[in-house]
Amino acid sequence: MRNLLKVRDFSALDTFLSKASDMDRILSLRENGHDVAIDSMKSRVLGTLHLEPSTRTQMSFESAMARMDGKVVRIADNNSSLKGESLSDTIQTMSQYVDAMVVRTTSYIEKWGDPKKWDCPVINGGDGDAEHPTQALTDIYTIYKRLGEYSGLNIAIIGDLEKGRTVHSLVNILRYFDAQFFLYGNDLPDTYGRYANTVVLESEDDLFDVLPEIDVLYLTRTQFERGGSAPLFQLSEGHMEILPHDSLVMHPMPRTSELNPKFDDDPRCIYFEQSKNGVPVRMAILDWIFEDDKLYIIA
Ligand code: NCD
Repeated sequence: MRNLLKVRDFSALDTFLSKASDMDRILSLRENGHDVAIDSMKSRVLGTLHLEPSTRTQMSFESAMARMDGKVVRIADNNSSLKGESLSDTIQTMSQYVDAMVVRTTSYIEKWGDPKKWDCPVINGGDGDAEHPTQALTDIYTIYKRLGEYSGLNIAIIGDLEKGRTVHSLVNILRYFDAQFFLYGNDLPDTYGRYANTVVLESEDDLFDVLPEIDVLYLTRTQFERGGSAPLFQLSEGHMEILPHDSLVMHPMPRTSELNPKFDDDPRCIYFEQSKNGVPVRMAILDWIFEDDKLYIIA
């Protein structure tokens, strides 16, 4: 059984991205009125157990399942955790009712119970401030679709590096692909490490020095619900002026004051395209979960 809990080894990222591209092509053909069938989830049921707020991750997984002719059941707000049931009992129980499940909680996967007791594959849809592997795959797919590559990029990450789980997963994958990171905000936790190719920027002035060389500017909000405390940052006209014309401005969303909607029409600002890409990427993930051969190693 194949769980997707953490990002560990993306040596077969190419294969994954090409599957996501195939799914994306199918969706575009359908958007253009072509009747292209993909029913690999037929007679399968996906459970979504999102115990933290979620718009993109939950909806895109549910949409991905629906677009492959599968069905979805989701946990109700009035579930038995209100009676004091443990998270591990809830997960074990739900795993008996579905063929795969996506779980999002405030607690780390280590608190999800013993994977050997799960009856179906479990996908991490965000565990506290630790990881968010499927968002990182969505981010990398978006970069690859736009720039045609994901190796050797200059990536500035601004915002809540300490509590932002999307950043942890993104850095943890792209560090294997010669990324040069420029970090501005609070600090990455030790577990996610600083890598050889990391420059920590001390001030916004330092940021102005590096922006002209950046391929991807990745913003995140402060994770206030987890006590996050990143310095206040707001993308400005000044930043946009010196960012290369072929760079990308990305954000896992939702956004707060760091990213003013006045920039939405700038062709470099692709965060809504990024969230749209969540569907083909999660279609590819679901397909992968049910494949027999171990094409990708994502432990
Ligand atoms: C992120 C998350 O939940 O970690 N959202 C998402 O899934 N796209 C980012 C955030 O909440 O700031």
